[in-house]
Amino acid sequence: MKKQKVSAHLLCNRPLTHHSSSPSSPGFPSFPLHLSRAGVISQTAEQCELLLKCSVNVFQSLSDGMWLRCGCAASLRVLASPLRVLGLRRCNTAAFMPESAGFGGVSGRSGLQEFSVSSSESFWAAVARHRLSWIRPFTAVQDCDLSRGRIRWFEGGKLNVSVNCLDRHVHTCPDRVALMWERDEKGSEVRYTYRELLEMTCRVGNLLRRHGVKKGDCVTIYMPTCPLAVASMLACARIGAAHNVVFAGFSAEALAERIRDAQSSTVITVNQGIRGGKILELKKTVDTAVQSCPTVQQVFVAMRTDSPVAMTARDIAMEEEMLKEDVVCEPAAMNSEDTLFLLYTSGSTGKPKGLVHTQAGYLLYAALTHRYVFNYHDGDVFGCVADIGWITGHSYGVYGPLANGGTTVLFESTPIYPDPGRYWDMVERLQINQFYGAPTAIRLLLKFGDEWVNKYDRSSLKTLGSVGEPINTEAWEWYYRVVGEERCPVVDTWWQTETGGICIAPRPSDSDAEIVPGMAMRPFFGIKPALMDTEGKVISGNDASGALCLAQPWPGMARTIHNDHQRFMETYCQPYPGYFFTGDGAYRSVEGYYQITGRLDDVINVSGHRIGTAEIEDAVNQCPAVAESAVIGYSHDIKGQGVFAFVVLKKNVDVEEADLSRQLNGIVSEKIAKYACPDFIQFVQRLPKTRSGKIMRRVLRKVVELDLDSLGDLSTLDDPAAVQEIIQGHRELLSK
Ligand code: WTA
Repeated sequence: MKKQKVSAHLLCNRPLTHHSSSPSSPGFPSFPLHLSRAGVISQTAEQCELLLKCSVNVFQSLSDGMWLRCGCAASLRVLASPLRVLGLRRCNTAAFMPESAGFGGVSGRSGLQEFSVSSSESFWAAVARHRLSWIRPFTAVQDCDLSRGRIRWFEGGKLNVSVNCLDRHVHTCPDRVALMWERDEKGSEVRYTYRELLEMTCRVGNLLRRHGVKKGDCVTIYMPTCPLAVASMLACARIGAAHNVVFAGFSAEALAERIRDAQSSTVITVNQGIRGGKILELKKTVDTAVQSCPTVQQVFVAMRTDSPVAMTARDIAMEEEMLKEDVVCEPAAMNSEDTLFLLYTSGSTGKPKGLVHTQAGYLLYAALTHRYVFNYHDGDVFGCVADIGWITGHSYGVYGPLANGGTTVLFESTPIYPDPGRYWDMVERLQINQFYGAPTAIRLLLKFGDEWVNKYDRSSLKTLGSVGEPINTEAWEWYYRVVGEERCPVVDTWWQTETGGICIAPRPSDSDAEIVPGMAMRPFFGIKPALMDTEGKVISGNDASGALCLAQPWPGMARTIHNDHQRFMETYCQPYPGYFFTGDGAYRSVEGYYQITGRLDDVINVSGHRIGTAEIEDAVNQCPAVAESAVIGYSHDIKGQGVFAFVVLKKNVDVEEADLSRQLNGIVSEKIAKYACPDFIQFVQRLPKTRSGKIMRRVLRKVVELDLDSLGDLSTLDDPAAVQEIIQGHRELLSK
């Protein structure tokens, strides 16, 4: 083994590339203008919007328009003229969404929503033509049949996602900031322009190609949220490989399982991560993981810290090798339905599901939701604080903002490091306009008091977003009142890894349309929710609750589960034939607004992290002293849900319960991740089971929620005395 010590330049300091100040600078012509090379010139959606606004306002906004700043006024004028003929009423809707000019008199936000659902093909065709740059135009808008699990959008079309996220913006605004990397070390943020990010992406793309990564391969990325991780994702997209980002908090075993399932031969990681001031030994975790991954042939190791790490024959020093690569990398022409990425998420069995997202539909949906749910405009700084290891980081940290030519913040730290003012200090420093975070962090911060917020200037904020779990009214109010000073709409956004992007959110809607605290409220364009009753029938009225389904396909939805289409069918398509079943329950209010009531399956949500109770049980059961276990979620003040484990020990086990609890926590963090560790472990003689041997979790949930009056029908229990024992044991546990 040799020790590696290379410059941490790419990760820790300014980017290596020459940073020129204008498009005509010497560095500029070296950039490949793939759009024109491919014969397709497509304006970004924002350009179209600006054009339409200009046609109404007779260029009054030109003086401060971004295209002027970027020196693009000429192209703006040329394109604006034909649009002046539009009438004013149409322009209001058209200024909001330029494509609507072709929607035959549709007006207003709700008119657009109705059109997007009733004329879904026309809607998505127009949006896809406007907002994506195609190498070859698509020939069919969709070919979907939910009952057969067949989902295809924009077939016949060819495009490259990295070109859509980078080149077309480099073409028009090379020096606009693409990424603001808020490093763990407060006050040391680093900005990357579109030009720099394209260069970095091209270097990684060439590096991967040189090392044999081909179209159709899957590269696993195990990195903290940082520019090189983004460049790695985009580099995969550039050369036609799929990526599989694994959250850097996952253990070696969890990582190995995902690498094996994805059949990756290449892994990208860093020597060490740093989060909340603590060092995370990511390279060591990869070393352990790849021992049980025979497919892995090479591991690229970037340097996030200065500490050298042991390198094996399979490891490659990433930055060193990147420096040898060209900054031009030919993008692969990808079919709309080629895989863009896999992302593993938990389901109700122990085995995580590798959800498959494809190129055009996913990108379009991420871009459109980013633009409209958050009312994102050119020049805004978008602050999504999710880790890139989750779908939120993919869609709103990377793909949505970059497809829109936006400036996106990559947050590497925690909400309370070095103190509970971290988010708001960052908002002030980076002048963040849209802040998108998780309710668990909001609940945590509100406990520290308003002064940590009020210390900082938040006047840049325009929209606040919430995602990942229900936001309780107290947290919502605090977010709205204290953080947003009652100025900023709070958008509670409901969606899932499976949906690719936001499906239900209070916006887009008219700017004065009401927002009800703690409600996701309104379906996004193209989304048609349906509630199902216990017999599988559609509930038609309002003021009703049921299983939340989506009644028609949309471009952002996952296409399948990697290597397991049968599971995809069973989980999402078969429960309510012809509908996509979300696994969540929802309430539709008298006014027709949606409120998510929580999961209907054995999936829990700990601090916004989705985890299957079966996964935790599988880990707990691997302890030699354990006979069996049942894990359930319970309401937790900060985390949303906590983990409660009921554990039956094998006979004659002679270990202190405290020792066993420590052992079990150790096993769970080793097998899965720290966040999955039980908050409480109750050792019991037996679990309540039906006569057919099924654990009655419903009863356990009631015990933990102290809701003993509604334990329900216990007559199907094999041995009702088990419940009394558990209630007694639970009382003793709480009194300790
Ligand atoms: C839950 C995260 C209530 C829900 C984007 C869903 C929510 C699961 C909300 C998906 C919300 C997400 N209100 N619950 N606004 N957003 N959820 O795949 O149970 O990590 O099914 O995607 O989180 O979690 P995932």
